[in-house]
Amino acid sequence: MLHKDVFEELMNEEELDRTVSDIAAKINADYEGKELVMIGVLKGSVIFLADLLRKITVDGVQLDFMQASSYGSNAVSSGQVRIVKDVSCNVKERDVLIVEDILDTGNTLSFLKEHLLSKGAASVRICTLFDKPDRRKKPVTADYTGRVIDDLFIVGYGLDYSERYRNLPYVGVLKAEIYS
Ligand code: IMP
Ligand code: MG
Repeated sequence: MLHKDVFEELMNEEELDRTVSDIAAKINADYEGKELVMIGVLKGSVIFLADLLRKITVDGVQLDFMQASSYGSNAVSSGQVRIVKDVSCNVKERDVLIVEDILDTGNTLSFLKEHLLSKGAASVRICTLFDKPDRRKKPVTADYTGRVIDDLFIVGYGLDYSERYRNLPYVGVLKAEIYS
């Protein structure tokens, strides 16, 4: 049974698992034998990241987190990004992979990527579970993408609207009446 605020299901648990496995296989191939710092962007990425990390076989993988804010509690991006929590590890000369729930306008990820490069990271790649390219305002592309979607507002599997629905085990399209 779908949550009453969800219009339709976009990806069920099985599809999510398959998508995460496909992404992990690519990362495993690309980073085999290397050191890698995976940086989860709080809070939306945590469920995706937890599932993804368990499928990563790269021996030298490490984990860290960042939190940025651009969306307040509504569905409209302000365009302004600020760092709420910075990485705690030293990224200098290290290969970094940012893990994000969804790439939307690109404001957040272009800012975070620049930020990590300015700290001296050797490389910064982006892994996102969802991508809404039609909404892009900054020229940022993901290196690993789960699924490209239309301009819909989705929730569940970590993704929120106003801090709710992160706990749904599937990803669904939020009813327009909830956010309009
Ligand atoms: P950007 O800076 O506009 O790319 O926004 C990225 C952030 O906006 C993501 O990390 C999400 O937290 C949030 N966001 C964008 N679209 C959605 C959506 O459809 N559902 C839930 N959160 C979203
Ligand atoms: Mg969010």
